[in-house]
Amino acid sequence: MDSAVAAVLGDYEARIAREHKLAETLLPDEFRLRRDEFLLPVGPQTAQLLDILIRAQKPRLLVEVGTSYGYSTVWLADAARAVGGTLHTLELAQHKSDHARANIARAGLSDHVVFHVGDAREALAALAGPIDFVLLDLWKDLYIPCFDLMRPKLSDGAFVVADNMLEPIQARRDADAYRAHVRAQPGVSSVLLPVGSGIEITRIGGD
Ligand SMILES: C[S@@+](CC[C@H](N)C(=O)[O-])C[C@H]1O[C@@H](n2cnc3c(N)ncnc32)[C@H](O)[C@@H]1O
Repeated sequence: MDSAVAAVLGDYEARIAREHKLAETLLPDEFRLRRDEFLLPVGPQTAQLLDILIRAQKPRLLVEVGTSYGYSTVWLADAARAVGGTLHTLELAQHKSDHARANIARAGLSDHVVFHVGDAREALAALAGPIDFVLLDLWKDLYIPCFDLMRPKLSDGAFVVADNMLEPIQARRDADAYRAHVRAQPGVSSVLLPVGSGIEITRIGGD
């Protein structure tokens, strides 16, 4: 990892530590009301695993559904650059996407990322495939509709990684429904890993 990327990730990690302390002082209702102030990141273990998967698979087109402030975006873009791929990242909130875009520029990764602002479902419907790698990490009730929009565009051998399968506990019902949904698709293999907040890794077709 080069020094510009490492410096940006270092700043994110400092913010993650501050937000972790702040979140511990908030009641669940307060946290829910202030949710959009927080990075809500996949965390370092999941980020490292995404990096390993991408460098092994060498996807051409990567999609991140849920940019937030860009922590996972920097990891994905760094791996995309290493394998000659392009990352499309999708976020509803303009200010979050702007923050992510500024940090991607600081990290020297702008040439490898396309930012989309608005409802991810519209962006996914418009995006031309084939899509080779996906990080699914927006609000959890949208995982199934987003998966279904992407499904016809996923390449043979594509990976879909879905975060928050085990944590937070409030997302568990949507997470369980998502896992049942993807596992019912013909020709997929899928596994739940207790990494970070819990991730479901799904591989489409392939031999
Ligand atoms: C858990 S955060 C993403 C965290 C990010 N992947 C990371 O690891 O740093 C989920 C994000 O999804 C965004 N989101 C929620 N609904 C959305 C929608 N319909 N379209 C696009 N983004 C959406 C939220 O604004 C929020 O920033």
